[in-house]
Amino acid sequence: MLNVYKSNNSCSDRRMTLTVSQDVEILWQSLLDSLLSMSGDGRSLVFIDPIVLANNPQLLEIEGTENRFLLVPTSLREANKEIESLLAILEVMENEGIGRRSDKIYAIGGGVLLDVVSMACSIFRRGISVIKVPTTLLAFADAAIGIKTGVNFLGQRNRLGTYHMGYKVLLDPYLLRTLGPGLIKQGLGEIVKIAVIKSRPLFEGLEKHQAQLMNPTFYSSNDGMQILDHAIHLMLEELHDNPAEEQLMRSVDFGHTFSPLVEMESIRKPDYRALSHGYAVAYDCLLTSCLSNLRGLLSSNDFDRILRLYLDFDMDFANEIYRDDELLWASLLEMKKHRGGNQNIPVPVKLGEFSFLQDVTYEQVKNANYILQGLLRDQ
Ligand SMILES: NC(=O)c1ccc[n+]([C@@H]2O[C@H](COP(=O)([O-])OP(=O)(O)OC[C@H]3O[C@@H](n4cnc5c(N)ncnc54)[C@H](O)[C@@H]3O)[C@@H](O)[C@H]2O)c1
Repeated sequence: MLNVYKSNNSCSDRRMTLTVSQDVEILWQSLLDSLLSMSGDGRSLVFIDPIVLANNPQLLEIEGTENRFLLVPTSLREANKEIESLLAILEVMENEGIGRRSDKIYAIGGGVLLDVVSMACSIFRRGISVIKVPTTLLAFADAAIGIKTGVNFLGQRNRLGTYHMGYKVLLDPYLLRTLGPGLIKQGLGEIVKIAVIKSRPLFEGLEKHQAQLMNPTFYSSNDGMQILDHAIHLMLEELHDNPAEEQLMRSVDFGHTFSPLVEMESIRKPDYRALSHGYAVAYDCLLTSCLSNLRGLLSSNDFDRILRLYLDFDMDFANEIYRDDELLWASLLEMKKHRGGNQNIPVPVKLGEFSFLQDVTYEQVKNANYILQGLLRDQ
């Protein structure tokens, strides 16, 4: 819906208001069904991760029988989440003459592919719509849902990007069945995070199914789909109130206070094992929960449950980089700059409930980290 209000015709008051609102459709549907049910005379241009394509050869058969359907295997990784890849995608769109409203663009893959193809769609001909089909757990629970697009630039993650409202999300958990343990843990890092900070029922669901969470086929079962659906709803709640992240006190920043510099430095410095994003976020969630416990906000019983859930996943918590208290502190100072000069550290105060800390000291971080390191060593 687009409403334009013109206040009046007087020259002295030229103020106008523009209100834009749009619903985003998110559906659970089989990808094959969606592709086969294409109607009208439009074509579909399908940017797809080559690994996902190799694991789902049925898609090639559809392409063989349907000439309105063009598969474009697109290998996008964090290392080439760059403007050159964006331009290459735009070039395919141009060469294929995409533009008619009846044409469809699919982006099928992990968060990187979804971010880059969505960005291309947001700027091609001033914006065309995209159907995002996530194939990693992280993309299911996070990257596919929101309105952010982006590519890395001059060494900065997602430095160039847009907010693109023109999308649908198609959730087909069958695509997740080929995920290896590393990718599952990455996604679980985000799902556990949102459960701890926003939802006791989701947290309890994760505890209940703890033994199955590493099994990729679990996510096609009713229980697995319920967990994903719940996590997605929590993410939507957050986006609904703050889609462009103008509000700087965000519960979903849980896990993103101490982790950014730690993650970056672990990749940059050869002395350490490189940490993936989800692992660094998980350690941050534990450290922040420990801080909350030490300040008497989170009970020891709840803290212990959070610790037990994370410990099941072997997320490289023994990485030496976590001993660097000064690095953890530097990350907090850096984040403060992005949070309007405030610490705004979301911490759990009960399972599923949060508060913000504004006055954490270096000594408190050091002490919490010392205690956490001890707890992790004793396991
Ligand atoms: N736009 C947003 O709101 C948002 C939110 C969170 C994260 N992100 C972005 O998401 C990216 C991370 O996404 P990711 O974790 O999905 O990683 P990714 O996109 O790099 O994919 C990781 C790997 O998974 C493989 N893969 C994908 N689907 C598979 C499947 N079904 N089976 C087996 N292998 C499969 C891919 O080939 C790739 O090698 C980051 O760039 C981050 O910035 C964006």
